[in-house]
Amino acid sequence: MEHHSGQWIEGISQLQLDEEASLGSLIAQYFQLVEPQNLQILPGPSLKKPVVQAAIYEHMFNEAVLWPIPPATYRTRVLKMIISRIEESFSDPEEDEILDDLFRCWSDLSTRPQLSALDAAQKPSYVRYTAPNVVDSRDCRTVVTLESRGLILSSGTTGFRTWEAALHLGTFLCTPEGESIVRGKRVIELGAGTGFLSMFCAKHLGADGVLVTDRNPALISTIDDCVAYNHVSNNKIRSAIWDWGDSLRTEQALRSSQPIHFDVALGADLLTLWIPGCTAASRLQAHIIPFQSPPLQEQSGFFHTTNIPIRTYRISRL
Ligand SMILES: C[S@@+](CC[C@H](N)C(=O)[O-])C[C@H]1O[C@@H](n2cnc3c(N)ncnc32)[C@H](O)[C@@H]1O
Repeated sequence: MEHHSGQWIEGISQLQLDEEASLGSLIAQYFQLVEPQNLQILPGPSLKKPVVQAAIYEHMFNEAVLWPIPPATYRTRVLKMIISRIEESFSDPEEDEILDDLFRCWSDLSTRPQLSALDAAQKPSYVRYTAPNVVDSRDCRTVVTLESRGLILSSGTTGFRTWEAALHLGTFLCTPEGESIVRGKRVIELGAGTGFLSMFCAKHLGADGVLVTDRNPALISTIDDCVAYNHVSNNKIRSAIWDWGDSLRTEQALRSSQPIHFDVALGADLLTLWIPGCTAASRLQAHIIPFQSPPLQEQSGFFHTTNIPIRTYRISRL
């Protein structure tokens, strides 16, 4: 029941092109649960228009048709910001008004019992990531994960959220050079966390097959559920619990004595000291891929801050 933008773009065709693009970007940021202060909300003159408010309601807040929908605490914060921006833009008290549906939704959300910030951060939420529109602004490739972004120290793993490095690598994989590394290849992902990269490779980048691995069984079980939500076939993606250093026990490995082969191994935000060590001892060479994500304000998908520079390495056999 994922809501693809192909459907909603038709529904908002009464908007001007720039408004449609800005709203598309806001919707992608909102379903990725981007911090409200970083959302790029449309300017007042656009927000005042009933057709824009109707599109905001239908594509961001209408619980009856949207899945996944951000948690109520997040929705409340975002709708509060949008309503105050709309009110600030009013110039004629007789003419300007807030759409009934939006106002009703705001009254409903603001009277619901709210979780504390800590509880809200630890509760699992569905997050929908939209790929950057590298070629076509109507290209809308999405991946849904289940994340508990506040569960970092207490859970014993850092894998319950998708990190900037994975979004950075995902952005690179959307370029023609990045896609060519994965298309038609047998891919394994190490320390996959939420499984975001593996699901993106299997669902949208034409990987021949993906094995998504992590040492944490709870993460693997969540990834298995998400594979189903994303409608990715089990022929395309499989999962395995794998702690590096142990042997990799997949169903296939247990059935056959032959080693399993992969063409590409992906990993994001795993170990900072790994690369120099592996090049010296194991006949591998590392090249930096000179790719940088655009700054947050210029991104059209897989939104992430670029305050801390992220390096991407391609490691191959000597
Ligand atoms: C910082 S998270 C990165 C998750 C994901 N790659 C991302 O960038 O969003 C590190 C991940 O590596 C996994 N991990 C850490 N040590 C591991 C090990 N020895 N074997 C397998 N996975 C490991 C953790 O469970 C966690 O999911």
